Amino acid sequence: MSTPMTGPVPPDHPDHDAEQTLDADSVLAREEAGGLLVDGSLEEGRLGGAASPVLEEPVLSVRDLNIVYEVGEGVHAVKDASFTLRRGEILGLAGESGCGKTTLAYGLNQLHRPPARITGGTVTFHDRDDGSEVDVLALQGQSLRTFRWSTVAMVFQGAMNSLNPVLSIRSQLNDVLTTHRPQMERAERRRRSEELLELVGVDRDRIDAFPHELSGGMRQRVMIAMALALDPQLMIMDEPTTALDVVVQREILQEVLRLRKELGFAVVFITHDLPMLLEISDRIAVMREGRIVELDTAENLYFAPQDPYTRRLLGSFPSLTGEAGDFVRAGFGDAEQVERAEQAEHAEQADQEATA
Ligand SMILES: Nc1ncnc2c1ncn2[C@@H]1O[C@H](COP(=O)(O)OP(=O)(O)O)[C@@H](O)[C@H]1O
Ligand SMILES: [Mg+2]
Repeated sequence: MSTPMTGPVPPDHPDHDAEQTLDADSVLAREEAGGLLVDGSLEEGRLGGAASPVLEEPVLSVRDLNIVYEVGEGVHAVKDASFTLRRGEILGLAGESGCGKTTLAYGLNQLHRPPARITGGTVTFHDRDDGSEVDVLALQGQSLRTFRWSTVAMVFQGAMNSLNPVLSIRSQLNDVLTTHRPQMERAERRRRSEELLELVGVDRDRIDAFPHELSGGMRQRVMIAMALALDPQLMIMDEPTTALDVVVQREILQEVLRLRKELGFAVVFITHDLPMLLEISDRIAVMREGRIVELDTAENLYFAPQDPYTRRLLGSFPSLTGEAGDFVRAGFGDAEQVERAEQAEHAEQADQEATA
């Protein structure tokens, strides 16, 4: 059995074992989770003038990306996807199950595998460190591994369950640094591991704990810490908090919003939860049957959706159209309002259950 763990590729990916043996003797990884919430959503209109961490300069440019699953007559899962992600920006990717969100995300750092094949298009990464333009789809071997580990961090659904159960949090954080920052001194690694844990809101004295001694939410925070260890410029989060309860999910999203403000990474955040995306995203891309049908600021998308499908999608969330949707209409980015709306919703649910 291979050791359960996390990594720059999903546990069931063919590159998984190769990455591990090449990368480290003990396993680990990073990835993370997160999203963002309300009080960090920084569009001026939403936060009353708070300085936005979103810069004009691009971090990732995707042009006419096409991905096909070569099975039977072929499934054209991603059709002519084009978008530019700015440094520090949170781009939400919405759309119903099966519309191609995960396939697109995988294509962004070449995690797709047969029968999936990229049949056209380009993905260009604009490196902050040396100003170079990286042709992501041309990366191979070691440079692809480095790219996946250090430059782009990815969190998969259920990532928190992929921590190694037999290693303490300390050794898992330490391993990432040992492998990818070999020049770092032991004491420095120790200090950095504790600092990372604190950064994601986990008390540093939990560092010697084992995964089973932590709650799901804390494990997901540890995953974020691991992802942050190498200071990525981009985080791709594919349904990272779907398995967590609403309160924990919200806390984690808030943490990620704060971190992105502090550290300046950009985020592609994928979820079928459109109401959540409206809260946390700077811009949202709506996907339908492999195509991005609309891409706009969260506000425009909510108040003035252009595509009929976006309108239908918005209409399919009672929380956006019912009373609890007031917070969205009243003002993006007011955390307290969101909380009140949620409490009202919960109270209503409790009432309904009580009378049922
Ligand atoms: N391994 C595969 N082989 C064939 N088709 C696939 C495979 N994986 C996904 N698909 C198809 O590609 C489309 C997009 O899937 P996916 O990217 O997982 O969507 P989402 O993440 O939005 O739910 C779906 O029609 C799905 O059935
Ligand atoms: Mg998916």
